[in-house]
Amino acid sequence: MLKKFPRYPLTFGPTPIEKLDRLGKHLGGKVEIYAKREDCNSGLAFGGSKLRKLEYIVPDAIASDADTLVTVGGVQSNHTRMVAAVAAKIGMKCLLVQESWVPHDDVVYDRVGNILLSRILGAEVRLVDEGFDIGIRYSWEEALHDVKARGGRPYAIPAGASVHKYGGLGYVGFAYEVRDQEKQLGFAFDYIVVSTVTGSTHAGMIVGFAKDGRQRNVIGIDASATPAKSKAQVLSIAKRTAMLVELETELVEADVVLLQDYAYPRYGVPSEETKEAIRLCARLEGMITDPVYEGKSMQGMIDLVQKGFFPEGSRVLYAHLGGAPAINGYGYTFRNG
Ligand SMILES: Cc1ncc(COP(=O)(O)O)c(C=O)c1O
Repeated sequence: MLKKFPRYPLTFGPTPIEKLDRLGKHLGGKVEIYAKREDCNSGLAFGGSKLRKLEYIVPDAIASDADTLVTVGGVQSNHTRMVAAVAAKIGMKCLLVQESWVPHDDVVYDRVGNILLSRILGAEVRLVDEGFDIGIRYSWEEALHDVKARGGRPYAIPAGASVHKYGGLGYVGFAYEVRDQEKQLGFAFDYIVVSTVTGSTHAGMIVGFAKDGRQRNVIGIDASATPAKSKAQVLSIAKRTAMLVELETELVEADVVLLQDYAYPRYGVPSEETKEAIRLCARLEGMITDPVYEGKSMQGMIDLVQKGFFPEGSRVLYAHLGGAPAINGYGYTFRNG
């Protein structure tokens, strides 16, 4: 399915699957919980999900003769950090537009975590006032224009690498990798839990798992708090990606399972329940999840297990997509642990 697409390796290889035994037992022991550690996928600036996507985008950037990767995200965007690291690795310049997607309490919010790393990685960081939106951003188009105006050759990567023509391919590969790992494990996962915002992670998984009819077993947990937009974006990316890889199944809206109950109060702001999920997972498994993305999907998975959403005996695979560096921007939130 993916063989015809050039791939530039940025990751170590297949990511490990780890059983979260203590968490599973704590939640009643009726389902088995596993984590696929996308957060440990590379030596590039702490790694994370975006590298799987960028592996299929970098060959196009190199072929286009660009000299500057230009992308956009919030101040604590993991995606912009990953693009900065990739630019360094392939010898390009990098311009990052960091929008004001999240209201924050910490005075150091724009100095630590992801944005700190991006600066160290040599990216030009442009802070702008625009609020949260997963769509095409004016500030980003302006940055592309500015690079051209100063004689550079920009390569455009949209927020989350999602609405890029190849943005969905990386997570098609994830599904294939899981399928290979299932053969070694001797069982198949019944559900895959994924945090969803700009949509290409979830969309790629839908396409990859549709190959054996499991697309509706991918349970997206919305972290955007604008779920209608995220859902529409997941579907459109999934359809486009399905065409690219010549999937035989026609994807429909019902194939996008996106649960909306955990993104409150808004994007980037953790609820009390999200904070509790972050602490629980850290204290039972030593696994760090962040207040923006994985903490919300962790909260969702915990709640779904407790509600009996997953039938007894299910094996649930939690996709840990990374994002821990952002937690440095939440020192006040976790000042007492
Ligand atoms: C750590 C982390 N988890 C989940 C997501 C959501 O993925 P997507 O934007 O592809 O929906 C992102 C990026 O937005 C992320 O950085």
